[in-house]
Amino acid sequence: MSYFVSIQMDKNSKTPMYQQLGDHLYELIEKNILKPNTKLPPIRSLATNLKINPSTVVNAYKYLENKGVVYSQMGSGTYVAPIPVECLQMPSIHSSNQSPISMTIPMTTSALNFASMSPSTDLFPVADFKQALNEVLDRDKGDAFSYQDTQGYFPLRKTICRLIQKSNISTSPEKIQIISGAQQGIDLISKALLRYGDMVFIEKPTYNGAVAAFQSRGAKMIEIPLEKDGMDMDTLEIYLKLYHPKFIYMMTYYQNPTGISYSPEKKRKLLDLAEQYDVYIIEDDYLSDMFFIHQPTIPLKALDHKNRVIYIKSFSKNFMPGLRLGFMILPKTLFQQVLAAKQTTDIATSGLLQRTFERYISLHLWEEHVEKVRKVYQFRYEYLLEKIEKKLKNRVLYTPPNGGLSLWLQLPKNISMEIFCDLLLQKQIIIAPGSLFSFSPGHESYFRLSFADVTTEEIDYGIGIIKETLDILEQSSPFYTSLL
Ligand SMILES: Cc1ncc(COP(=O)(O)O)c(C=O)c1O
Repeated sequence: MSYFVSIQMDKNSKTPMYQQLGDHLYELIEKNILKPNTKLPPIRSLATNLKINPSTVVNAYKYLENKGVVYSQMGSGTYVAPIPVECLQMPSIHSSNQSPISMTIPMTTSALNFASMSPSTDLFPVADFKQALNEVLDRDKGDAFSYQDTQGYFPLRKTICRLIQKSNISTSPEKIQIISGAQQGIDLISKALLRYGDMVFIEKPTYNGAVAAFQSRGAKMIEIPLEKDGMDMDTLEIYLKLYHPKFIYMMTYYQNPTGISYSPEKKRKLLDLAEQYDVYIIEDDYLSDMFFIHQPTIPLKALDHKNRVIYIKSFSKNFMPGLRLGFMILPKTLFQQVLAAKQTTDIATSGLLQRTFERYISLHLWEEHVEKVRKVYQFRYEYLLEKIEKKLKNRVLYTPPNGGLSLWLQLPKNISMEIFCDLLLQKQIIIAPGSLFSFSPGHESYFRLSFADVTTEEIDYGIGIIKETLDILEQSSPFYTSLL
């Protein structure tokens, strides 16, 4: 009680009394003076001690509960949440404070862009797509330009069902919703399902475009740390016992930014927990076809016998991002809400592009293209690993992801990522610092290096510059310690 009796409240202030008390308690929690799971004083005794009305304490506790920093247990009292305040992202629709996750990467046209996850434009099958487009125009004439069904062009949905059987997913066109890219899928689900203050669990670190979509609906977010084979399931379960999130957002393969893929055990455990605690999972499959070691990819959706998974697939990384095409497979219970959100957002994804893409797949050009792109990326990936081994050995730590479009590298902790990025930028090299992918501390010494949009010559040059920059920083840092 000693921390509490010293709380000073100002009856003449314009800030309501409950908020003053709440803010004092918040500060004690933030400074870790009140530790996780500490029981807050009973309402009556705190009110007596502070000579205030019990309803002020009730409102202060509610205010803190809304912020997600305390939780109440029926008949037992109010406790400090078991999660550091900085790991909790509060709704910030009107907030002027920029969270680190919304920082932007500086772009100059002449720079080598190791931050971009956008595929090189020379890989785009322009001539084949043109052929498919011409065939569609000759075949469908004006119909190609009419409003399309909100759910999506039926023949494309049918074709997609056939395509994803390769990923062990069997579904029907009725369960598929065509979307204008995975980002729209995430946004539509947020629009359809989230209300201000709802909770969403995300991986730590994660794709900042998803965080921005959840934030735009006023969601609270809890970051669940990633391990080498997926989310930390023990931590996830602790939080599932305390909160009831609307959904858990995750990437099964080559997670952005870490490159982590889920083990079969973690996939099963995640599905079990979703079932046990009655939550949905958003599986963002933005990249699973970019594997470099032959192995069947088994998305969570392929194992989803209880209809817990909202599966989102993008055609941006394996095809062309400017098409803005993707699809979702939704549990039946959510379909109508998401369809209504799609209708109010853009009525439908471009019918012309859906028809052309369907024709492109029917011409048997799709598999061939994905195979070609995979080989190009695999070559770049192996080249990059070789250069890193040669020039940065023992100076960066990483786990080879064996797929995807990027590496997640760690520098020695006493090298400032900010200075490192600035020096690289002066040499026209852009990388993505780890702090972009989380709103709590923990990834300051990491960066994502993408090989999506760089040639082997550029990789060679870029890694050379990274080496030189590390040389400069190590020489100027008296406290430099090797990673080994
Ligand atoms: C993990 C992840 N999900 C979704 C997207 C957005 O994809 P799309 O272009 O299909 O909207 C990206 C883009 O980089 C991404 O990295």
